[in-house]
Amino acid sequence: MGSKIFVDACLGRETPYTPVWMMRQAGRYLPQYMAVRERAGNFLNLCHNPEMAKEVTLQPLDIVGVDAAILFSDILVVPNEMGMELEFIKGRGPIFHKPIKSQEDLDALRGGEDASSRLTYVYETIELLRAELDRRGDNKALIGFTGAPWTLATYMIEGQGTKSYNISKRMMYKNPELLKAILSKVTDVVKLYLERQIEAGVDVVQIFDSWASAIEPTKYDEFGWSYIIEIVDHIKAKYPDTPVILFPKGVSPFIERGLVYGNFDVFGVDWSTPMALAKEKLGDRYVLQGNMEPCRLYSKEMTTECVESLAETMRGGRHIFNLGHGILPDVPVENAIHFVNECKRASRR
Ligand code: CP3
Repeated sequence: MGSKIFVDACLGRETPYTPVWMMRQAGRYLPQYMAVRERAGNFLNLCHNPEMAKEVTLQPLDIVGVDAAILFSDILVVPNEMGMELEFIKGRGPIFHKPIKSQEDLDALRGGEDASSRLTYVYETIELLRAELDRRGDNKALIGFTGAPWTLATYMIEGQGTKSYNISKRMMYKNPELLKAILSKVTDVVKLYLERQIEAGVDVVQIFDSWASAIEPTKYDEFGWSYIIEIVDHIKAKYPDTPVILFPKGVSPFIERGLVYGNFDVFGVDWSTPMALAKEKLGDRYVLQGNMEPCRLYSKEMTTECVESLAETMRGGRHIFNLGHGILPDVPVENAIHFVNECKRASRR
């Protein structure tokens, strides 16, 4: 088998062009995704069905032409299998009906091996995908993923998405021991979860800290970053050749203060961070991934302008094209295809 351009790029090797994928690339902007979700009945059923999850994972490869597939699942299956009842409600997003309020609530949840061994549908989906990608032989990569402990904890504590994070942050300042106990318990599950994903056949893993920017910079290391690095160190000790991508959203103040460290391979740059700043501060240590503002996808001209500018900024550097956060459901498919084609054209060597 030849080498995978996406994996090569994660490891900082020379590639014929800069590979590209999009966060949330399997999703509602694709009519073919909507058709499979309809057949599944709802979103969680789709996550629980390896054949259908495989099908939607592959759709962006076939329809949009990206260089890597990302496992179709959700970060919230982890707290769900720890024992928290989860529902996705149309128009409201994810809901945990019994959020964690106390040490007793936390003690009632499954930890490490007990929780990670219940995620069999994820591992089966990966096994099916591995077999299919190997059969195709076109060297497209498969990305596994997890939420970072802090981002998962916000949902487990708030019970739903939040704008102010006031319940999680009240715990951070008034009961930090409980927050740390939650973060540690989640960290232990996530370590085993990523291990099992790698064993099942993913080429690369990405850690999403989508709500990193909710923590003030002087507290982020203590409640966010240090748990991520514990996970990274655990994975790198066992699987030194598997690239790890970290995506902490909204952290340019931390980048400027030099607070980014750790033994991961790729730093995912969000759209609010200038790529030139990320390159100056981090480009010698990490491959950089990103970072077009996802709403530029509404305009082909604005997409081309950004792709060309990113290609120019990253010329001679180590780069993977992506959006600076997830693609939105009302983006025309042809504009997503245009983005992918433009990335390949503008970076061809
Ligand atoms: O293509 C892919 O990226 C793979 C699948 C994937 C999903 N969620 C599918 C999904 C991935 C990697 C995620 C990660 C995820 N989930 C994150 C981190 C990434 C980010 O965007 O910051 C977060 C915070 C979640 C939690 C979550 N899941 C929310 C807040 C929502 C509701 C918001 C929304 O977009 O509806 C989900 C639902 C969800 N996860 C959908 C998909 C395709 C939409 C469900 C549907 O089909 O209705």
